[in-house]
Amino acid sequence: MAKPKVYVTRLIPEEGLNMILEACEAEVWEGELPPPREVLLEKVKGKDGLLCLLTDRVDVELMDTAGALKVISNYAVGYDNIDVKAATERGIPVGNTPGVLTDTTADFAFALLMAVARRVVEGSDYVRAGKWKTWGPRLLLGQDVHGATLGIVGFGRIGQAMARRAKGFNMKVLYYDIHRREDLEQSMGVQYTDMDTLLRESDFVTIHTNLNESTYHLIDQEALAKMKPTAILINTARGPIVDTEALAEALEQGKIRAAGLDVTDPEPINRDNPLLKLPNCVITPHIASASVATRGLMARMAAENLLAGLRGERLPNCVNPEVYERK
Ligand code: DGY
Repeated sequence: MAKPKVYVTRLIPEEGLNMILEACEAEVWEGELPPPREVLLEKVKGKDGLLCLLTDRVDVELMDTAGALKVISNYAVGYDNIDVKAATERGIPVGNTPGVLTDTTADFAFALLMAVARRVVEGSDYVRAGKWKTWGPRLLLGQDVHGATLGIVGFGRIGQAMARRAKGFNMKVLYYDIHRREDLEQSMGVQYTDMDTLLRESDFVTIHTNLNESTYHLIDQEALAKMKPTAILINTARGPIVDTEALAEALEQGKIRAAGLDVTDPEPINRDNPLLKLPNCVITPHIASASVATRGLMARMAAENLLAGLRGERLPNCVNPEVYERK
């Protein structure tokens, strides 16, 4: 029997790639950068399955150009790069990789929070620049993490993992989510607040929501104005949740103290973006889930979703299960 035809838009770790190469007639884009749009459109034509990344826009044009996709498997937990509604209308199940990256992402978000609070990057740059002359009583003073108030925006898997870490630092934890989790509040020692209270009372605000129409620019000029002048903003979710221009202005004008961003809008950030000139803004290249083990687990999970879809089976992790009700 002929093997199913698939397109894989980047070299994912072998844990998943080998499963795909064994079971499919696979074309793999081996470039370091994502396949250009015209290449992607050409390559998906006639394919049964697509394994894509968050850097690939999977929209109506792509789905219709492909013709008969049986499955779209995203190598990420977030899927804002995919028009899921259009996929559902076409009967295409969409897979993602939840769970396996939760702790790795929260580890990184907490590391970023601590690095910004205690000015680790500035300290390192200072030493490398040969500026370290003596121990200084006022040198690079930062903010304490222990005992501070952490505001978690989005209390899903990763938000909850942040709360667990914060408890180890004796932090007071506030959270906001469209779904209140009363069932977790007592056991986790967290307190639900509305968004305004969270912004006003938190020393650290950390973003863990999906990007969708209601979270686009959730942190805008108005939200930033509500934060404490000493507050630190951490974003490891999606860049467009924060209004980049408003953030640069808030940091320049001292409306908030500092920010740590693992995601930006756009990605990569433009080299002339004012945020890159600010010492109180630490930016990393969307690497919160980037541990060897986790990226391997994500590859396996994405491959399992892809292969299940090709066999006509329910995806182990499907973001549009309603697709099965239509069939
Ligand atoms: C995701 O999975 O959505 C992250 O942003 C990358 O791991």
